Amino acid sequence: MEQSPISTLTVVGLGYIGLPTAVFFANAGLTVRGVDTSDRVLQTLNEGRATFEEPGFSSLLTRALESGLLEVGKDIRPSDAFVIAVPTPLGEGRSFDNSYINSAADAIAPNLKGGELVVLESTSAPGTTEALAQRIVSSRPDLTLEEDRENSVYFAYCPERVIPGGITAEMPANDRVVGGTTETATCMAEELYKCFVRGSIRSSTAITAEMVKLTENAFRDVNIAFANELSLICADLEVDVWELIDLANLHPRVNILTPGPGVGGHCIAVDPWFLAASTQSAHLIRVAREVNDAKPEFVCSQIQNKIDSGSLKEVALFGLAFKADVGDLRESPALKIASLIAKRNPKVSLRVVEPNISHLPPSLEYADNVRLDSAEGALSNSELAVLLVAHSTFLSVDKRQFPEVEFLDFTGKWTD
Ligand SMILES: NC(=O)c1ccc[n+]([C@@H]2O[C@H](COP(=O)([O-])OP(=O)(O)OC[C@H]3O[C@@H](n4cnc5c(N)ncnc54)[C@H](O)[C@@H]3O)[C@@H](O)[C@H]2O)c1
Repeated sequence: MEQSPISTLTVVGLGYIGLPTAVFFANAGLTVRGVDTSDRVLQTLNEGRATFEEPGFSSLLTRALESGLLEVGKDIRPSDAFVIAVPTPLGEGRSFDNSYINSAADAIAPNLKGGELVVLESTSAPGTTEALAQRIVSSRPDLTLEEDRENSVYFAYCPERVIPGGITAEMPANDRVVGGTTETATCMAEELYKCFVRGSIRSSTAITAEMVKLTENAFRDVNIAFANELSLICADLEVDVWELIDLANLHPRVNILTPGPGVGGHCIAVDPWFLAASTQSAHLIRVAREVNDAKPEFVCSQIQNKIDSGSLKEVALFGLAFKADVGDLRESPALKIASLIAKRNPKVSLRVVEPNISHLPPSLEYADNVRLDSAEGALSNSELAVLLVAHSTFLSVDKRQFPEVEFLDFTGKWTD
């Protein structure tokens, strides 16, 4: 049966991924309803403002809202297609928490009549799109997953791989993978994303598409774990890890990544667990997660050694974000390190330098011995300065101007 073109779309979950997705579809001419359960999100959007900072995004949002093609609200209504972009956090025991997806599915189900496409974009464990399809048809036995019937509903997975800070440029430009639970679903999803995606759209099955996203992040995690493990081995053997990696990378087919204080953010530090939880075969992926998760404790022990051996009273920590040049503190190893050092050393005054935030996060706010400071202020008042995150503004610090300060660098970027 010939599918009619999709002209109305509902995007469920208007966060960092769902909102720009809704905006790009609306600006491509679809009539889009964005749905979110959060009053704060809806209120901000109804005032015409974005809920996050992203270069170039607010003008795109304004265009979508002013054209009348994007409207937002709490309730889901019938439409030709649905895109789900709700959170998928780690559940208990590092399992995959699909509860937000299930809530979205239950809210979509009563609005289906047959012929619709439901696309899952949330990062998901293998098999989630199939389970979503089964959940919806078991609550609506009048619908079917068989193709080409009047009451057929189609399901596909389409992962997102944009980088924070580059969403506006990357969302339309990146190559995409779409995978349906049936061939027609795959074709429908491909047609849908062609509306605004200028990159190539590769099609596959739903489970492969789900695994593509997890594999990308597990690949990064495993490679970072290799570098982080080298840093531990080098500490044991008293070898300079930065020199070692520099020299090993002279090999034309070797490209070792840079060790750091650990792995953070809500993707690389989380998604590999979804793979590890779905099979007994993911040994390396599981161990890589453990290596990266253990790195903050190693960094703490190195800082602690300096504090104890020098009876230090004033320490500066540079960086709290989960990576350089962002203000995002989610799953940040630097934040974990700062919190542990503050807790274990109540008599040591800690000056935290994080130019991307204006006040301390809750995990540090409680501590009397921690304050947010400028780089200059921290360096003028500290005996030890620790580089945890290589924000570009930190790289110009002239260490020679602070001869009294000892420098400890966990990023390899504070060169002499
Ligand atoms: N942020 C990224 O860089 C990124 C990149 C790729 C993939 N992802 C994945 O995309 C998904 C969404 O991530 P995000 O960063 O946009 O999350 P987010 O927390 O920024 O936004 C999620 C939104 O969904 C809303 N929500 C929750 N349950 C809902 C429901 N039942 N109905 C309607 N709205 C609901 C929340 O209120 C929130 O506004 C996750 O699976 C994430 O792993 C994120």
